Amino acid sequence: MAKFKAIRGTRDVLPEEWPYWDHIERAIRKVTALYGYRKIATPILEETGLYVRGVGQGTDIVDKEMYTFEDRGGRSLSLRPEFTAGIMRAYLENGLHVQPKPVKLYSVGPIFRYERPEAGRYRQHTQFNVEAIGEQDPALDFEVIALALHLFREIGLTGTRLQINSTGCPRCRPQYVSQLTEYYSTRLDVVCSDCRRRFERNPLRLLDCKVPQCQPVIAEAPNIRAHLCSECRQHFETLLSYLDAASVPYEVNPRLVRGLDYYTKTVFEVWVQGIGSQNAICGGGRYDGLIEELGGPPTPGIGFGSGIERLVLTLQEQNVPVASPSAPAVFLAHLGEEAKRVALEMVQAFRAEGIPALVSFGERSLKAQLRDANRVGARVVVVIGEEELRDGRFQLKWLDRGEQTSVPREQVILSVKQELRGVALD
Ligand code: HAM
Repeated sequence: MAKFKAIRGTRDVLPEEWPYWDHIERAIRKVTALYGYRKIATPILEETGLYVRGVGQGTDIVDKEMYTFEDRGGRSLSLRPEFTAGIMRAYLENGLHVQPKPVKLYSVGPIFRYERPEAGRYRQHTQFNVEAIGEQDPALDFEVIALALHLFREIGLTGTRLQINSTGCPRCRPQYVSQLTEYYSTRLDVVCSDCRRRFERNPLRLLDCKVPQCQPVIAEAPNIRAHLCSECRQHFETLLSYLDAASVPYEVNPRLVRGLDYYTKTVFEVWVQGIGSQNAICGGGRYDGLIEELGGPPTPGIGFGSGIERLVLTLQEQNVPVASPSAPAVFLAHLGEEAKRVALEMVQAFRAEGIPALVSFGERSLKAQLRDANRVGARVVVVIGEEELRDGRFQLKWLDRGEQTSVPREQVILSVKQELRGVALD
């Protein structure tokens, strides 16, 4: 056995899985173009302080999950545990705020979190991330949510459930949080130990606990919707009215609180059944105070992230067909040194014509070469042996219909091309 293994919580994406990733990537390119988003890539490494400031002390991400280390120059760096803070840093640093608002950006790339690995939850995952910056109109919340749902439809997912909530703003949330802590203060003996910690560090997350013993306490907890200030309530109601008008189904979920501190007003997730407990294929919301928190001018924003591994798992679970790359059309078999030279030249000529072609390596029997051709799914084998070279006519063995033809050497490519015409070659 090999000496090394992939790090726990990381995985290899093998060739068989790539058609799913390509399928999703095509849909991402299409949908982001339809909604006017442009691509941005930021470094995987950022200053640790960016996330402490942006995502927030007291969140699981910052307290327990970041891959943080000191570089050789003594700086504290972290592998990005999410996209948003880094995108906002780039927005400010590169002066993107001078562009027409909202500035719409998307990214795809790896994210690192030291979480407990399980199906659909990894320590390195890949996110499709979207941010729309500089506009507070709830119509933008609607559009960002519509984009997420459009993508999931486009890739062929069914059974998605949009969960939506408002977690208020710095004006109304503190009041709600104090009500919530007051309510929990008399129930700390019946909740789990994690909840006792949340009570101290991040009370809103109490509502997100999955432990059975905490469920009755959550069910009776005060509802944030009743505590929103008029601006937040108005924003939320307007957003819901836009969703209603567009007949987008949603569930208002007063327990939906997100694991990052920057959210204000709208928060949402999209859930899907079938990938175990990690059923969120998308999560996001508004972050109207984040840019200011990072030293920029007051600037609202909204976005979401979607885990591509979870999308792949769901596509597989739902048996969604995806296009696979076509098998190489042509296989060149050769017998003898001179034939091999001719085969090497001809395989390049096929490729130059845009026809996927393979050539046999090593010196192998014709039988073994035909077996290889079958295995890779080739449609036709060009057989080049001493006799063929002498006669100037090559054998074409059509594997799909078990026929064999003999064609003058200089007509081989043309003849194969004509035969394959009508078959998609990409
Ligand atoms: P998040 O909810 O932490 O939000 O992550 C977004 C999505 O990434 C999740 O819904 C899930 O699909 C996927 N995901 C998260 N953690 C894992 C994991 N360990 N393994 C596999 N997939 C995972 C954010 O990160 C926010 N920055 C999203 C955002 C953008 N909000 C505003 N703009």
